[in-house]
Amino acid sequence: EKSGYASFMLKEIAEQPKAVADTLLGRIDGSGTLSLDEVRIPAAVLREVDKVVVVACGTAFHAGLIAKYAIEHWTRIPCEVELASEFRYRDPILDQQTLVVAISQSGETMDTLMALRHAREQGARVLAICNTNGSTIPRESDAVLYTHAGPEVAVASTKAFLTQLVACYLVALYLGQVRGTKYGDEIGDVVRDLSGISGVVERVLETMDPVRELARSLAHKNTVLFLGRHVGHPVALEGALKLKELAYMHAEGFAAGELKHGPIALIEEDLPVVVVVPSPRGRSVLHDKIVSNIQEIRARGARTVVIAEEGDEAVVPYADHLVRIPATPTLLQPLVATVPLQVFACELATARGNEVDQPRNLAKSVTVE
Ligand code: F6R
Repeated sequence: EKSGYASFMLKEIAEQPKAVADTLLGRIDGSGTLSLDEVRIPAAVLREVDKVVVVACGTAFHAGLIAKYAIEHWTRIPCEVELASEFRYRDPILDQQTLVVAISQSGETMDTLMALRHAREQGARVLAICNTNGSTIPRESDAVLYTHAGPEVAVASTKAFLTQLVACYLVALYLGQVRGTKYGDEIGDVVRDLSGISGVVERVLETMDPVRELARSLAHKNTVLFLGRHVGHPVALEGALKLKELAYMHAEGFAAGELKHGPIALIEEDLPVVVVVPSPRGRSVLHDKIVSNIQEIRARGARTVVIAEEGDEAVVPYADHLVRIPATPTLLQPLVATVPLQVFACELATARGNEVDQPRNLAKSVTVE
C-alpha cells in the first residue's frame, strides 16, 4: 500500500501534485469561471453574506488562517478564523448572513462538529470543506466542498492540507465571482495561476534533497523556530506543528513582526530558525521587513534556514541555508512554501528514529472533545 515509499507520509507528500489537481478538477472551466455546483447555497444567499467565520482544528485551522487573507482580499467580506474548540464556548455572534466554513479532513472531529452545530442553531449557513465522503461534518452542513486528496493514512496531515488550501481559495474566488467584487481582474489571473499550481508543487518536490540533508544535520537539536508574515505566518505555524508531532521537538511559529515584542529573546548561538520569505514582487514592503528580521536574528547567532522565491537575491547574504521555491502570487505561496517544511519534519523525525506515520499520543481523527 505504501507503493515503495518508506512511509505513508512520504507517499502522501509525493501525491500532493495529484491531490491538488484532483481538487481543482471540474471546478474551473476553460474561460476561468468557477462552477461549484456542490455548493448548494444559492448565489442570492451568498451575495447577502456579511461575515465569514472559519472553524477548524490543528492543521485544518492553519488552512483557515490562510483562507482569511484570501477571502478578505478578494471579497472584502470580514472573515474570522477560530479554533473550533474555543469558538463554541465563546458565545459567538452569528446570524443568517454569517457563512461558517468548517474545515476537516476526517469530517469526524468532535470539536469542529460541535462548533458547526452551534453555528446552525444560531441560524448561520455552514459550508464544510472535507476530505471524507459522507462523514458527519458534511452530513450536518448546509453544503460541502470536498477536497479530493484521497485517503490520508499518516496521522500528520500533508496532502489534505494542500487540498484544504485549494478549496479555501476556490471558496474565496467563488464568493468574489458571485458578488462581482472589484478584484475581478485579479481573480482572473489568480484562477489561471491556481490552475497551473499542481505542476509548480511537482517542481518543489523535485528539489527536496538539500532539505532532507539539512533536516538530518539538525536531528540533534532541541528547538527550531519558524517565522513568517502575512500568509507565511500560518505556514510557519504549520511547519512548527509538523515538527512537534513528528520529531517530538520544541518548535514554535511566530509572526516575524512580533520578533522584537518578545521572541527575539529566544535567539541564541546556532539556534535553527526557519524563515518563510514573502515574494519580493507584489507586497515588497513585507519582503524587505522580513529580510531585516533575518539580518537581526543572524546577528544574534541564529542559524537561518531561508525559504525564498527563485531570483530573490536580497536574502542570500543572510541565509545559512537557502531553500528555493518557485515564484507564485503572494496569496498562493503557502501551497509551495509548506512542502519543504513537511519534508523537513518527516526527514528529521526519521533521523531521530521516530515512527512518522503513527506519532506517539496522536490519533488520526479526534472524535472526543
Ligand atoms: C496535524 C493533524 C491534526 C488535524 C486536526 C484536525 O497534522 O493531523 O492537527 O489537522 O486534528 O483534523 P480534521 O481535519 O480531521 O478535522
